[in-house]
Amino acid sequence: MNISEMQAEILRLKKENDVCILAHSYQTHDILEVADFVGDSFALSVKAQSVDNSTVLMCGVRFMAETVKLLSPQKRVLLSHGGAGCPMAEQMSPEYIEKVKSENPDCAVVAYINTTTALKTVCDFCVTSSSALKIVNALPDKNILFIPDCNLGDYVKRQIPDKNFVLLEGGCPVHGQITADDVKSAKALHPNAPLLVHPECKPEVVELADYVGSTSGIMEFAKNSSESEFIIGTENSISEHLAYECPDKRFYPLSKKLICEDMKLTTLADVLYAVRGDKGSWEEITLDEQTQQKARKCIDKMLELG
Ligand code: 13P
Ligand code: SF4
Repeated sequence: MNISEMQAEILRLKKENDVCILAHSYQTHDILEVADFVGDSFALSVKAQSVDNSTVLMCGVRFMAETVKLLSPQKRVLLSHGGAGCPMAEQMSPEYIEKVKSENPDCAVVAYINTTTALKTVCDFCVTSSSALKIVNALPDKNILFIPDCNLGDYVKRQIPDKNFVLLEGGCPVHGQITADDVKSAKALHPNAPLLVHPECKPEVVELADYVGSTSGIMEFAKNSSESEFIIGTENSISEHLAYECPDKRFYPLSKKLICEDMKLTTLADVLYAVRGDKGSWEEITLDEQTQQKARKCIDKMLELG
């Protein structure tokens, strides 16, 4: 089978088996082409509420599939590859956060959506990279414990100086390894290209950026800008997708290190096996009732405020 034959088979089977395919923008381009909806974490969460199909296949990482299950518990929710986690989501345990909460009793706990469902059960609000500023701004609380990403937390803190933030050591190992020297090297090669970065990057990188935003935010900014070339400071798949969408513009990855191995685990063949209900690496998401009810609260608040 070649790529187009496999894609045609996926399109036929998803209809026949009533499957909706949601894909995060870090997935490979061949997967985005067969998806019903592509977006950032916030857009995918909004979409998860309104899907009509009996089965939802999430092409992305585990916390994204769990978010779909929390929002649509009656549906069969599949993760495209059972091995695809987000290392940041696993960094802090509920027990550790309970301890930090007891040391900071005045704080509202704001969790980046890149967290496990178990961790969400001990948090008050959830945010994504595209909704964090709006949601934290809207909270009545003055003191915020922001977990787990201290880089996103620092970005939000700088934009909202009238609130107090407690940040912990956590973050994305992919974006977090990028330094100001990487920016210097990319700028030396492409001096006229604006730098667009994800807020999961270190403050020293964010400070040098011309635009800071979510994966969808970066894509929209580049599409609507009158500039003709850009340095892209997020997972390198975004540079590739933009090259398809804007053939007259040029997109240069900020660094060759910007590859998320977990996001890249899913292949087009995994998608085929999942829509066919065949043996493969996909996994059905199950969550116990009590965890589901507790964790959903902070996601519902995110959708209300975001
Ligand atoms: P977005 O919310 O921007 O899609 O980010 C998700 C993510 O995992 C970024 O690394
Ligand atoms: Fe997680 Fe970073 Fe990969 Fe995003 S890029 S899924 S935050 S490890």
